[in-house]
Amino acid sequence: MLEQSETDTVRSACEQTLHANWVEGVRDSDGVSFAYTQPSPGHYPWQWYWDSCFTASVWRRFDPVRARSELCSLLAAQRADGFIGHTIFWTGPPKGARRFSYNIVSRADGMTASIQPPLLAWAWRIAVGDPAEEPGIGRHHRWLEAHRDLDGDGLIWIVQPDESGLDDSPQFDGIWGRRAHGTLGFFGLVRRNRRLGYDLRQIADAGGPVCCEVMTNVLWSLARTALGEASLTPVIVERMYDEARGLFWPLARPAPSRPLALTWTALAPLALPDLPEAIGRRLVEEHLLDPRRFWLSVAPPSVSRADPAFSLRDTVLPGLRRYWRGPTWVNAAWLVWLGLVRLGYDEQADELGRGIAAAVAASGLREYYDPYTRGGMGAKSFGWSALALELAEPDGRAGSSYLDP
Ligand code: GLC
Repeated sequence: MLEQSETDTVRSACEQTLHANWVEGVRDSDGVSFAYTQPSPGHYPWQWYWDSCFTASVWRRFDPVRARSELCSLLAAQRADGFIGHTIFWTGPPKGARRFSYNIVSRADGMTASIQPPLLAWAWRIAVGDPAEEPGIGRHHRWLEAHRDLDGDGLIWIVQPDESGLDDSPQFDGIWGRRAHGTLGFFGLVRRNRRLGYDLRQIADAGGPVCCEVMTNVLWSLARTALGEASLTPVIVERMYDEARGLFWPLARPAPSRPLALTWTALAPLALPDLPEAIGRRLVEEHLLDPRRFWLSVAPPSVSRADPAFSLRDTVLPGLRRYWRGPTWVNAAWLVWLGLVRLGYDEQADELGRGIAAAVAASGLREYYDPYTRGGMGAKSFGWSALALELAEPDGRAGSSYLDP
């Protein structure tokens, strides 16, 4: 257990950051109202889909009205067919280099044509109530089923690495190669996908690559379950579980050109409350708790430290960062922590929570942390790192991934 004073430090850092990043307003072009938590004022000013799901989840503790408004803002941006973009440009379109790297089809677009992990229904369940009461959420799920389920088995596919929210993760190096995020070739990938309207089937037919990513589907399965739809856990296990190694791997078309890097997403199914227990225990005991791979002071690093791709150097060129290649992100810690709690690894859940709390106490809410020194890295005043509070002051529903009433 954390000392009361440590919990207080984490709580006040989270509350302060959420308040500091909150914006409300009315879109100039059409008068639609918005209200959301900027991921990091200055650096990330717009509304990012999955950031909002995470920050709304924590807002429920301080101001449930804001939690609801933040998720309603995603719905206010929704297209009539159910689509909601990865980033919504409430305060005006991207400028400068972002015009070339953001997934917009035309300059005047109000949001990207790409998606982010679709966890809205799960966040609604955590922060607000029953997502079935909000028809836009069901419509959103129908859009995803119609447009992103390549094989008709429920799993969704992404057309670019950044659709997973895990932009430069080295799990994608063997899939997108020289067109991976954070490389010069990425600009060419964006240009090609703009031309194909970010349409999964057209992109797959044009030779891809397209990818069925583990964590994205874990969050999608939680969202489906939250909405009373069938869980995807059986198909995630059937198609992505590597029984020999006790790990989950993404699928890709064309098939990866080389073995994929071992990242924390191989363990993300720990967040699934209906994951077969034996599989969960293997993920924990053989991998998560292994100090040669994931069990560092601030766990889990985004890449296994034993993997050749593991790196704490996040700057490639001045001003150009590569994310998710080593440092620890709080949303990842939270998702694997849910599995530790559910499976009764109380001591380890506590230790993981203490590592995150110590990093927040030492460095404030940063985008990600050095897993050895606890030093803060990346953007400052980073909204979703407020999930640290879920670990510091556990909710009784954590053991069911918040799906039990
Ligand atoms: C980075 C992250 C992405 C996040 C965005 C805004 O691009 O990789 O997941 O949504 O920043 O915080």
